[in-house]
Amino acid sequence: MKPTTQRMRLPGPTSVPERVRQALAEPALNHRGPEFREIVRETEEMIKRVYRTSGDVFFFACSGTGGMEAALVNTLAPGERVLILENGQFGSRFAAIAKGLGAQVDTLEAEWGTAIDPEAVLRRVKEQDYHAVTVIHNESSTGAVNDLKALGEIMKDRSGLLIVDAVSSLGAIDVQQENWHLDVVVGASQKAIMCPPGVATVSVNAKAWEVISRDTQTPRFFFDIRKAKASLDKNETPYTTPTSLVVAMRESLRMIHEEGLENVLARHERLSSALRAGCVAMGLKLFPTSPVISNAVTALHVPDGLEGGQIVKHLYNEYNTVIGGSRNRLNGRVIRIGTMGDFDADDILGDVYYLGRTLQDLGVDADLGAGAAAAAEVLAK
Ligand SMILES: Cc1ncc(COP(=O)(O)O)c(C=O)c1O
Repeated sequence: MKPTTQRMRLPGPTSVPERVRQALAEPALNHRGPEFREIVRETEEMIKRVYRTSGDVFFFACSGTGGMEAALVNTLAPGERVLILENGQFGSRFAAIAKGLGAQVDTLEAEWGTAIDPEAVLRRVKEQDYHAVTVIHNESSTGAVNDLKALGEIMKDRSGLLIVDAVSSLGAIDVQQENWHLDVVVGASQKAIMCPPGVATVSVNAKAWEVISRDTQTPRFFFDIRKAKASLDKNETPYTTPTSLVVAMRESLRMIHEEGLENVLARHERLSSALRAGCVAMGLKLFPTSPVISNAVTALHVPDGLEGGQIVKHLYNEYNTVIGGSRNRLNGRVIRIGTMGDFDADDILGDVYYLGRTLQDLGVDADLGAGAAAAAEVLAK
């Protein structure tokens, strides 16, 4: 019963579709030649439509964390005060980066699995002027989604910036940079954008640009968006572009727009709902309790008596299926399945089946039939 090909079901990096893999195999290009500049132009135009912005989106040769650092290093000077909204592992990462830059870091924490309460943010920003507020849209470590629209409303008429990590939501959960007044939004290639890891995207609006273009003492070189802007105006990056990854991203963005962004988001919603329904019907419990639960990652409590690593290992060894555990304070207690990018109904039914089999193999009384039926019912809607 072991699948012959590996089932890549991580919450990133995600499976790369055949068309994108073919694009990765294209011959090398001059990163400053006319062909590649046209590719950058087209990729830029298409990714803006995913961000729903008319502002610039910058490409950096790094993982998502580099994008987070780029967002902060360009907007915060040492000593400036930042409010970090922290309801999971990646919120903590923003705090660590800001501390590293010498900012004065305040945090507003919410229990992992819950969302940040916008009212609590409003109270904090009324008490204290913040140079910036950071938030993780989709906390991949817990499956909780924060309310960007409400936070944008709070920050739009204040001088402070709203800096958003949309690494695991962009292309899976709606992000409306312009309508929601999001000043800086970070994405990455390896999640719902369906490419291999290696490119972070950082989108900035006019309010953010005013701050970015200041002359401050903040050390910045590779991630200096002022230099990136001068290059982007020529459809280039300041330093050698990871050309193959950008060619791949052009192809994945073409796929997204061919399907239609609204349809892509609706597919994520339908498929992830089906997976959640299937898991719950098998007797598993969802980890997040936030008002909005992620359509990009399904985070589940590990049943009593088991350790998360056992499930992850068994799925890999016996069913050729790769899912995530937790590499943080939830270690051993939460497992996570990606529902991002290139996946469909057959993946969801496979997830329910192989997870159910795994639980049974490990001695849990999981009702596989009920799980499959519940998932199929949502899929059939
Ligand atoms: C929400 C979020 N932010 C940031 C990151 C960090 O990205 P990377 O691992 O590409 O550096 C991740 C990675 O999983 C993520 O899910």
